[in-house]
Amino acid sequence: MENQVSDFVLFIGRFHPLVVHLPIGFLILAVILGISSKFETFKGAYHLLDLTLWLGALSAAMACVMGYMLSLEGGYNTDTVFLHQWGGIALAILAFALLAYRKKAKIRPLVQRIGFVVLLLLLLYTGHLGGNLTHGSSYLFQYAPNPVRKMAGFPPKINRVHKEITHIDSALVFEDIITPILDARCITCHNNDKIKGDLLLTSFESVMKGGESGDAIIPGNSAESELFKRITLPHDHEDFMPPEGKAPLSKEQIGFMEWWIDSGAKTNATLADLSASGEIRDKLEKYLKIGKYNTILNNPIDPINPSVVDDLRASGFNLASLSENLNYLEVSAKIGQKISMNQLEKLTKAKSHIVHLDLKNSGITDESLTIINTLPNLIRLRLDQNPITDDGIRKLTDLSNLEYLNLSFTNISNASLALVKDYKNLKQVYHYKTDVSGTEE
Ligand code: HEC
Repeated sequence: MENQVSDFVLFIGRFHPLVVHLPIGFLILAVILGISSKFETFKGAYHLLDLTLWLGALSAAMACVMGYMLSLEGGYNTDTVFLHQWGGIALAILAFALLAYRKKAKIRPLVQRIGFVVLLLLLLYTGHLGGNLTHGSSYLFQYAPNPVRKMAGFPPKINRVHKEITHIDSALVFEDIITPILDARCITCHNNDKIKGDLLLTSFESVMKGGESGDAIIPGNSAESELFKRITLPHDHEDFMPPEGKAPLSKEQIGFMEWWIDSGAKTNATLADLSASGEIRDKLEKYLKIGKYNTILNNPIDPINPSVVDDLRASGFNLASLSENLNYLEVSAKIGQKISMNQLEKLTKAKSHIVHLDLKNSGITDESLTIINTLPNLIRLRLDQNPITDDGIRKLTDLSNLEYLNLSFTNISNASLALVKDYKNLKQVYHYKTDVSGTEE
């Protein structure tokens, strides 16, 4: 079909979504004028009704023609197009009919008002179908509360963000990794209402069914899979997906797609089934935000022995519970207090409890970091304003849970940053006023 339609027709057709706003605006105004004529106060505006109705009827007719041209492009749900098209045509006819009726010698206000109400309902219905064609029918109610979704005939929302994947091995590759990528980047054009390239990307079955040019996925062979070829073409290539103007997939996401296809494009496989290992596993762990961070705080821990608390306080530390119902501790050096190796050693008595540690400006040296390295649950660590160097950072090898590290006003250099990059949960590193060169983070 596409080849037989002239480019010029398709070109004009693409203006339909723009032009269609004219009849919407004019006809809604006509409805308002037509109905408000009932009230004395608005009588003054009534003489504009004919003009508004004319503009609405003519622009509706124009939108119909352009909409038809757009439909020749194909790639839309034919049932929805059918209803939308006839809704639009009926709307234009009704607008002209109302004009003709108003030319009659004797207008009955009630008949006219009923005409306007029908016009409004038709406008809403047709406009809604048009919206479905553009955005997909799930668009409007995507964020609606569940009861509203139910009324509109949609299943309850799946809240992917809150769905907890407790362990990376139990993550479902297609459902938890591939589907969210397709949802975010592809389904606006490959859904039930808008089926570009005859390809649906809304479920595993539809992805595997393929499109116009056959299979989209060849299990085990990403290089031969149309879908994978499309997302890895040069960005300015005509066939590149998603098309220009839409955000392309990230390198990481492309990597996951490739890995999923090459490992057989299975539907229900977990990461464990596909024995994901090494780099891909680390990347996925980060991507799915399965940090050990959360796992630590989710594991209840018994309150710390009060005598340990007293001892630590006497040694120059402030202690606080992380929150009311968590027994994990936030520990900091008292302001102005210099902490010796002996004092620091005491922290090991609470080593499973300490998750935040603030040793800002406490005079600690490289040597002390050996002790800090024995606090396995550290999530936040402040070492700023201390005379520590790269040698010290080299001792921090076991802090795999660390998310935040402050090294500002220390003597570290680029070597430390390179080491720190290997902490897989680390999200923030501060190194203001250090020997780190350049603008590197
Ligand atoms: C803005 C709309 C749009 C988005 C978003 C989009 N596509 Fe497409 N897609 C199209 C159009 C239009 C075609 C048909 C024309 C063509 O073949 O290039 C198509 C065709 C395809 C085809 C070829 C189907 C066949 O069998 O010929 C594949 C594969 C594809 N898209 C994959 C994707 C993937 C994967 C994404 C998400 C990363 C995506 N598309 C996002 C518009 C889109």
